[in-house]
This record gives sequence, C-alpha cells and structure tokens, in this order.
Amino acid sequence: MRFKTNQDVLDWYEKQERALTKDFIDEIPWNEVKNHPFDKRFVPVLLYMRDIEILTDMYHQELLRTPTGKDKVISKFMERWGIEEITHGELINRFLNEAGIETPEDWKGEITRSVTNYYHFYARCLSTLTNCIGKSFTATHMAYGTINELSAAQSYRRLIELADHPVLTHILKGIIREESVHTTFYLNIARLELKKSDFAQKIARFVIKKFWNPVGSGARPQDLTDYTIATLFGDEKGVEWIDKLVTQKIQMLPGLDGVTKVTDRIAEIGRETNTSDFVLAKA
Ligand SMILES: [Fe+2]
Ligand SMILES: [Fe+2]
Repeated sequence: MRFKTNQDVLDWYEKQERALTKDFIDEIPWNEVKNHPFDKRFVPVLLYMRDIEILTDMYHQELLRTPTGKDKVISKFMERWGIEEITHGELINRFLNEAGIETPEDWKGEITRSVTNYYHFYARCLSTLTNCIGKSFTATHMAYGTINELSAAQSYRRLIELADHPVLTHILKGIIREESVHTTFYLNIARLELKKSDFAQKIARFVIKKFWNPVGSGARPQDLTDYTIATLFGDEKGVEWIDKLVTQKIQMLPGLDGVTKVTDRIAEIGRETNTSDFVLAKA
C-alpha cells in the first residue's frame, strides 16, 4: 500500500472496520477462561499491557500540546485510535478478572493516578522542546508510534505463543488486527513526513538512537517494564523476532537505515533482567 498524502492515509483508516465490534466482544466465551490453565507468570505481563493501553489517553493529551497533535489528519486519527486502545485495556482487564485475578473497581483511575509527578514534569519539558523544533518533529512522533504499534502487536503474538490459552488467544488476535491497522497509519504517515526533509530524518534518527525505550518506560515501574520485556523477548528467539518484525521494518523508513536501537535495547533488558527476582505483589 503506497499513499501519496497524509489525507489518503486517514481516508484509508476511516474505511477500516473495527475488529473488536460489539458482536466480537459479546461472543467472547468468558465462562471458558477458567477451563484452561493460565500460567501466573504472565499476570504482570498482562497488567503491564493493560496499563499501557489505558495510558494511551495520557499520551494523546501530551501530543495535543504539540504541532503533531494539532495536525488535522493526525488528530482525527487519534480520536478513534484512543478509543480503540482503551477497549484493548478493558478486554485484558476482564480476562484477568475471569482468570481469578482481582483488580480494583476503579482500576483505570488507579493506573492514571499512579504515574509519578516526575513523569508528568518530564513529559511537559519534552513537549516544550518538541514545540521548539515544530512541525519537523512530527516525523519522529510518527516513527515512535510505528515502533510502539509494531512492538505491541509482536508482544501480543509472543504472548499467544507462550501462554497458549485459547480464550486469551481469541481476544489477542482481535486486538492484533486493530494494532496492525494502527501500524499501517503510523508507518505511512512516518514515511511521508520523513520524506519531506533531511532535517526531519536527522532528528528522528538521533532521537531514536539516543532515547528510545520500550513504551511505558517511566510511566510504569521500571522492574515491571523489564520483567515484561524479559519474559516475552528475553531469549534468542524473542530478540530475533523483534529484530525481524520491528527493527527491520523501521529501517526501511527514510533516514532510518541501519538503526538497531530497538533490537539492542530489548536484548540488553533481556540480558540484565532476572525474571525470578520480580515480586508479583509489586505489579
Ligand atoms: Fe492496543
Ligand atoms: Fe495500537
């Protein structure tokens, strides 16, 4: 799929039907969740994934303070994108509940309130900085979005394989279909924005190489982030998976050839994290 303008990408996105329709959700066999074993080591992983989905609203608000969020095409996309990500978080939370993992009644509020003031301060500084760069930073935002969407889809795929729980698989396959649509949007807008200028390419390359970290870093406890990455991608196969399905796709974007940061960082977390040290109660 090749698009000529950002508007073409948005028009395509708006034609895509949701995978998680009301019918899909109504037909999830919740009563079968307990019929299948669910390895408890994936509970923190699902909590982390749920939190990231729910915190999309926070990222959305942060972006609205920048030229990227004020862009007519991108802001239109983000309105629907934000709603879809919240559904993902809600389905994951329901799965946990059905599997016997209780979550507080106001779990969404607790996630939002648990983000530290330091994070909010840091995010505000970052928005101010990106505002100084202006429109050229949009390409970087979109490249980051592409990495995050690709990584989310691969995390869910990996969890399907490792957890091997039929109801979870069914839910995650529906979520992955929506993540793939998000990826197409971000990837194509990133390509078009990066093509516009060498400056945009240089900034994107610099920021990813220097600063990229897994989505949720800083907003969630570091040990939970590390545990999730190490559990899903801590072995050789996991790193190869990330390299082939995230890094190599990002490298095809203008100006990002040879950027190995995502593979390098995931491999580093895998090497340095001992998952048996993690205490579930802290999640
Ligand atoms: Fe999502
Ligand atoms: Fe997504």
